[in-house]
Order: sequence, then structure tokens, then C-alpha cells
Amino acid sequence: METEGVWVKDIDDNVYLDFGSGIAVANIGHRHPRVTQAIIEQAQRCDHVNSCDYFTVPQVELAEKLAGVMPWEGSKRFFFGNSGSETVECAIKLARAHSRRLYFLGYIRSFHGRTMGSLAFTSTSSEARKHFGPMMPGVVLAPYPYCYRCPFKQEYPSCGLHCLDYIEEHVFRFVVTPGEVAGLVFEPLLGAGGYVSPPDEYWPRARELCDEHGILMIDDEVQTGFGRTGRMWACQHRDVVPDIMCMSKAVAAGLPMGVCAAKGEVMDWDEGAHENTLGGNPIIASAASAVIDVLTEERLWLNAAKVGEHIKRRLTEAQDEAEIIGDVRGKGLMIGLELVKDRETKEPAAEERDLTIIDAFKRGLLLLAAGPCSIRLAPPLILTEEQADSGVDILLGVLKNV
Ligand SMILES: Cc1ncc(COP(=O)(O)O)c(C=O)c1O
Repeated sequence: METEGVWVKDIDDNVYLDFGSGIAVANIGHRHPRVTQAIIEQAQRCDHVNSCDYFTVPQVELAEKLAGVMPWEGSKRFFFGNSGSETVECAIKLARAHSRRLYFLGYIRSFHGRTMGSLAFTSTSSEARKHFGPMMPGVVLAPYPYCYRCPFKQEYPSCGLHCLDYIEEHVFRFVVTPGEVAGLVFEPLLGAGGYVSPPDEYWPRARELCDEHGILMIDDEVQTGFGRTGRMWACQHRDVVPDIMCMSKAVAAGLPMGVCAAKGEVMDWDEGAHENTLGGNPIIASAASAVIDVLTEERLWLNAAKVGEHIKRRLTEAQDEAEIIGDVRGKGLMIGLELVKDRETKEPAAEERDLTIIDAFKRGLLLLAAGPCSIRLAPPLILTEEQADSGVDILLGVLKNV
């Protein structure tokens, strides 16, 4: 197997255009030379010193670089972990420690990881939870703002964001008092749940609701972060400032790392409250610093916004001929394509979705599934319009026959 830029080559020398980025990981492209160089140089200098007891220079440098791109002013603190799930675990522990409150709000259809704490917030399917319950107590899940399949069978904008009112009027009134809620854990756009993009006004209004009740906003940018949606962070589309942020996937170009960031006044727990052994490993931290340098110097989110719009336009136009395309949505290069058997009934085309991914693979395009019947398009952010067209041509060719 070999990878480079937007390309993947298998052991039989078949070449694939990567529209999945290894699940939104290869944002700056596979095997970027500056990341490779950073890994080599650091590996020749220092491999590991337990980062919770002795800070290393790469770890501190990474914290400084991250501080420069966080979506809030003022102080920032970071915890370095090894995966997305671990950062969510850190975030929920931190929210409880800081607020001294026990409850959380999350969303049905979300994905936040598969460890026992994060799994309590994961509900992409009941299969993912089967045999593992009961879940961590204190987590209340509300319907995600998924307009194409509104759980309240309403239409946006005439609904007036009924799904948010539901939290205030039903959850807070009948299930848990808001003063007991430590945090709202959310994905700004659903990732594994179907690449669903809520109406733009949803998160600003959720921020108001959280402010009113002293609830921390815990923004899971594990999939949406590092330029993927056309801004450095998805919360920046409407200037929503979270209190805690989870990052992973693209942070170190495929090496295992997760970062939980928080406002300085929020990450105020006692020394010894939370630790690990390998988090902030100097080789991985050096790779992550190189990723941030490349992203910021090349402002890759701008290309993601431009090429993403181009892909969305082509797919939306294709709806005229391809009846199977029920919905095209997303931001930047985080594009969801929902397949249906019938546009009127919106019956999910789950089997057709799986066949599409297999057929596209045979024709040289790597795609990923999301939700019950959606395809996620998440190519590296360096994708050119020409490469985007080649991928879209393959995809539409497959959809014509499926
Ligand atoms: C939004 C989100 N949060 C958390 C996770 C969990 O990350 P990991 O698989 O690295 O534990 C994922 C993984 O897909 C994710 O998409």
C-alpha cells in the first residue's frame, strides 16, 4: 500500500482517488513531505518522555501553535490524548469537575466514540450500543437538527427550530433541570451519523440557551476540524465559541493523537485529576505542529470551501437525472449525499448505497458510508477542481447504474 496527496495505491498497483481521507484524517494530503521530515527529525532526537511528568519541547510548541488557532480569545489549556474517544472522555470528566454538575445533553444520531463514557453520547445506531448498556448515567439525548428527516415532521424555517424549543420546553421541564446540566456535547455537523448540516442559526441559539443556564458547550470537532468544512473549525461558520473542544483525526496526519482544549478558566481541575502515558508523544506532536503549519500557511480551508461548493453544485444539478440522490448537503469538503429509493417517500436506499461504494471502489474512487443510507465525501483539502470532477464523474457514472 502506498499513499501520496489525494492518491492511494494498493498492493496490486491499483490507484484510487481518495474521497474519504481515511475518515477525514489526511486533510493536508497523504504523506506530506513536511510532516514526514518532522517525524524523521524528531525520531532522531527524542522518542518518548512521559509527557504528564516532564514536558517536552514539541509538546509545548504544539500547544502554542494550537493556541494560535483556537476559536476564542484569552487563555487556552490543552490535554493531549491518543484518540478522539479519549478527548471526549477528557471533556466529560472536565465538565463535571469544573461545574460540579452531573448531567449532560447530547444528540440522537451523533457519534462521539466507543469507549464507555463517549458511547453514552453515541447513537448512530442502536447496534452500536447493543449489549453495552446500561450507559454512563446522566446523559440525556435529544433529536439532532436533521431537517431532511425532521424527527418532528416539520419544515425549516417555518418550524422556528422546534427541535431546540423541545429541549427547553420538554427536556428541561420533564427530564432534567437545566441547573443540573454540566455540558452540551455536540458535533457541529453530524459525521458518522450522515454528514448532516443543521440550519445556520441552530448553534448560535443553542449557545444562548447554554449561556442562560450556565451549561458548557462541548464542541466535538474530531471530524469537522482542521479546515474540513471551509473554516478552521466548523463552529466558526456562525462565530459560536465553545467552552471545551475535542480534536483528533487530522491533527497529526494519521498518527494517533487527540486534543481536548478548553478555556483556561474551565480547565481548572486539580493536579493529578487526569493523566495518561503516551499523550503528547514528541514525535506525534512534531507531526501535528507540521500539520498546523501547512494548514495555516496554505489556508487550505479556503480551497475546501471553493472545491466543496463546486462538488455540491455538480451533485445538486445531477439530481435532475439521478432520482436516487435524495439530498446533497454539507460545508466545505464535508459533503453528504443521501440516497433514497423514492424522492417522495424518502425510503432509504441502504443497499444501493453499499453497492455504490463497492462499485466506485472498483472504478478507482474511495468513498465512505455515513448514517443509514448516506455517502460521505471527505477528500483531502488539497483536492483540485479537476480531481474533484474526476471523482464526481465516477460517482455519477455508478449512480446511473445502481
Ligand atoms: C465526531 C467524532 N468524535 C469522536 C470520534 C472518535 O474518535 P476515535 O475513533 O479516534 O476514537 C469520532 C470518530 O469517528 C468522531 O467522528
